Amino acid sequence: MGMRLHGTMRINGRGRLEIGGIEAAELARRFGTPLYVLDEELFRQNCRDYHRHFTEKYGAEVIYAGKTLINLAVCRLVEEEGLGLDVASGGELYTAIKARFPMHRVYFHGNNKSPGEIKMALEAGVGRFMADNLQELLVLNSLAGEMKTRADVIIRLTPGIEAHTHEYVKTGQIDSKFGLAIQTGQAEEGVRAALRLENIRLRGLHCHIGSQIFELGSYVHAVDVMMDFAGKIKRETGWTPEEIDLGGGLGIYYAEGDNPPPVSEYADLVMARLKMKSAEHGMETPRLMVEPGRSVSGPAGCTIYTVGTVKEIPGVRKYVAVDGGMADNPRHALYQARYEAVLANKAGLPPAEVVSVAGKCCESGDMLIRDIALPAAEPGDILVVSCTGAYNYTMSMNYNRLPRPAMVLVRGGRADLIVKREDYEDLVRNDVIPDRLRKSGLAGVASAR
Ligand code: LLP
Repeated sequence: MGMRLHGTMRINGRGRLEIGGIEAAELARRFGTPLYVLDEELFRQNCRDYHRHFTEKYGAEVIYAGKTLINLAVCRLVEEEGLGLDVASGGELYTAIKARFPMHRVYFHGNNKSPGEIKMALEAGVGRFMADNLQELLVLNSLAGEMKTRADVIIRLTPGIEAHTHEYVKTGQIDSKFGLAIQTGQAEEGVRAALRLENIRLRGLHCHIGSQIFELGSYVHAVDVMMDFAGKIKRETGWTPEEIDLGGGLGIYYAEGDNPPPVSEYADLVMARLKMKSAEHGMETPRLMVEPGRSVSGPAGCTIYTVGTVKEIPGVRKYVAVDGGMADNPRHALYQARYEAVLANKAGLPPAEVVSVAGKCCESGDMLIRDIALPAAEPGDILVVSCTGAYNYTMSMNYNRLPRPAMVLVRGGRADLIVKREDYEDLVRNDVIPDRLRKSGLAGVASAR
């Protein structure tokens, strides 16, 4: 019952929730709500967990998936903790460049990289292009040629594995917009093309089987499929991958019933299998790569809201509305994602009622949590939703012209602003009124009559 406490969260002697040594209500007062909070210690600890079990133990490269949470400060944390960075667009790449992230540790993903993005990445000198399809390989080859350079490439394969997760976050099955399918022969065609193209250096193979995965067996299965494919290619062409990238996807605890396996187990299991399969095909064990996102950033983030309208529909449901919602966290609306929450200023009180937490957008689906037990909620209470570090800020939007929240980095009693809150001026910054719609123009129309 209640919200599980993550990282530096604790209920202090006054019965209030603290994160990074500061009361959530104090953060709300200082920075306003809604507010994204990133627990620096937990974020770093999650990076270290991967670094210890994959890099220190097995020499594997851990590549943080920026799509889960990226901004300049986060790039700095990721670099300091010794991880690589997966970027999936020109915008994410630009963020990494601006943060002066070491480019040779940047892995450039995307199923529809534009020629402009490819050029930008070539100029920046990214470490690897994660090539999604044949067309991309051809464009990359010719652009690299024009720029008199060679691109280091890893080809993304579709291994044909159905991970047990939500439909929208499944990625490994054949019917997918990502990667080249092994079963259709397109993967092999892609590898042969990459080996022929003179401005491409083929380094390895990649797959990503899905997200929020609890079953480590799915990864073992992925290693088998990837290495059997590599074995076949080796027999036919003599080429062997130096690198095998298994993507991200390890699940996290959001709410009761979620039981993620430890990173150490994930590392040991996958590495043992990779060694076994390499030996089976008479290959040297390729360098392992993984691309965790959610399991690094997810639990390290939470969102602070202020309670507004509390509406009871007798015998039906009690709605507790907060000053954010799907605009800052669309995951319940999109995936029926479950979250836990606590009234931070009443964290010492026992639950008094079951309510549903709604957002403030003009959309019935704008809900954050259905049926949660909380102490009696009143306007002005501070609600904290946990585990919002991944796919919240990066998937946020301005529906109903809600300004995007600020983000603070907390640690040891200190809070630093790392993303400013948008204001109303930001919302109209890119709006343009054509001359003929200007107020003075209207006066002209009137006088012409
Ligand atoms: N690598 C690749 C190639 C990916 O496509 C992804 C996620 C990751 C790594 C990181 O996966 P993670 O460790 O975070 O599961 N918006 C959805 C999830 C979409 C996943 C996209 N790809 C959500 O909010 O659940």
